[in-house]
Amino acid sequence: MIKAVRGTRDLLPPETALWNFVEATVRDVFRAYNFHEIRTPIFESTQLFSRSVGEETDIVSKEMYTFLDPTPHELLEGYLALKEGREPSGKLLPMDILLGSQSVTLRPENTAGVVRAYIEHKLWERGLNKLYYIGPQFRRERPQKGRYRQFSQIGAEVIGPASAGSESPARDAEILELLATLLDRLGIETWTLQLNSVGCPNDRAAYNEALRKALEPVVGQMCSDCQRRAVTNPLRVFDCKVPADQPIIDKLPRISEFLDGPCRRHFEQVQEILKSVGVEFQLNDRLVRGLDYYSRTAFEFTHGALGAQNAILGGGRYDGLSESLGGPSAPGIGFAIGEDRLVLALKESAEAVQRKPDVYIAPLGEGMNKEAARLARELRRHDVVADLGDETFRLKKSFETASKLGARFILIVGENEVKADAFALKTLESGEQVSVPRAELAQRIQSGH
Ligand code: HAM
Repeated sequence: MIKAVRGTRDLLPPETALWNFVEATVRDVFRAYNFHEIRTPIFESTQLFSRSVGEETDIVSKEMYTFLDPTPHELLEGYLALKEGREPSGKLLPMDILLGSQSVTLRPENTAGVVRAYIEHKLWERGLNKLYYIGPQFRRERPQKGRYRQFSQIGAEVIGPASAGSESPARDAEILELLATLLDRLGIETWTLQLNSVGCPNDRAAYNEALRKALEPVVGQMCSDCQRRAVTNPLRVFDCKVPADQPIIDKLPRISEFLDGPCRRHFEQVQEILKSVGVEFQLNDRLVRGLDYYSRTAFEFTHGALGAQNAILGGGRYDGLSESLGGPSAPGIGFAIGEDRLVLALKESAEAVQRKPDVYIAPLGEGMNKEAARLARELRRHDVVADLGDETFRLKKSFETASKLGARFILIVGENEVKADAFALKTLESGEQVSVPRAELAQRIQSGH
């Protein structure tokens, strides 16, 4: 038997209803905040991620699905064919062969793709600076509850020239308030917002220096990843999950001690607005996030019921990212929600969201399928959720099916009923049965009794 690849999964009903509910709700919320949808490609050139997310991050150094297209083998075959004047075999076009291989990567996150599109299409000229996306991302991580190799993110980015206010602490607070609103609207109650500022490049240089110094005498006792990070990118030491390293990491200097005046003020203003709109947060100066592009505000929302993978979403500011990808200065801030984790957190209420059939229509005896189909059509036009049996089913089987489906009513369509143009409607739970004229059926079913 061929099974889904490790770390990937099928989403089946009724869970898909929950996904649709989540997506419809977030689209509504994004509309209210004037965000517009962007859809970027699922694979991009590898460089895009190594330059933005950062070479030394876990994502780029260990978790990306990267491949050469065409493969060196295909390319060689193609060259030989062209040289010998043959048609290149299979899927390769002469142009692909002349251009050579390109390293491409299944996107592990979507911020880099959005910023690339912002630059490529000069979106600032169109005033498009509030964008959102919903879609799959890929990371080769060890699969466990809430962690998959293909997972879905719901994300948003506010990006634009500083003259459009994109650097303002008001944007940070607006994004965080949006998230609080969104989680409340979805019925996720027990979230915690962890907030930090990771400073700007100047602060970071001083902080990195301090980290290097603090790590020097102790790094020999740390894991091999940390030994490398201590030299190349000391901030990444905070991504370490090795238990034995944690007491050392706990004693390292904190970024909050290194913020310069403007960064400190920016961060204070974000906090002031959050307090004034009533969004609660916890300061956490250990939160540096696992991607290199962040500057100033960084945040995560955690949720108690999720266990080890408790970050339901993460985000922050990335004021220098556009320039590092060859674009204009365009400060930005955004977030991505792990949709799989959001749905896990909501799962208990799945029953409430999934609409069960209002009625199961049971045709009884030969010739009744067409009568039942007519009735089903009428009822569905009145927004009744109806499911349909078959005239060959015995009544007992119809009852069993109706209760398995969780229908509230069963409607019997037999010869006598058709003649009388009134149908036996039975409430499954109480067993109560009434005869209802055709014209009153929809209303009766919708009223629920
Ligand atoms: P991130 O923290 O890497 O940030 O991912 C955001 C969220 O995606 C996580 O909090 C988690 O809920 C979910 N997630 C990550 N990996 C997995 C996985 N393997 N399985 C299930 N869920 C996962 C970013 O991706 C940034 N692009 C966010 C951002 C947008 N920052 C600024 N703008």
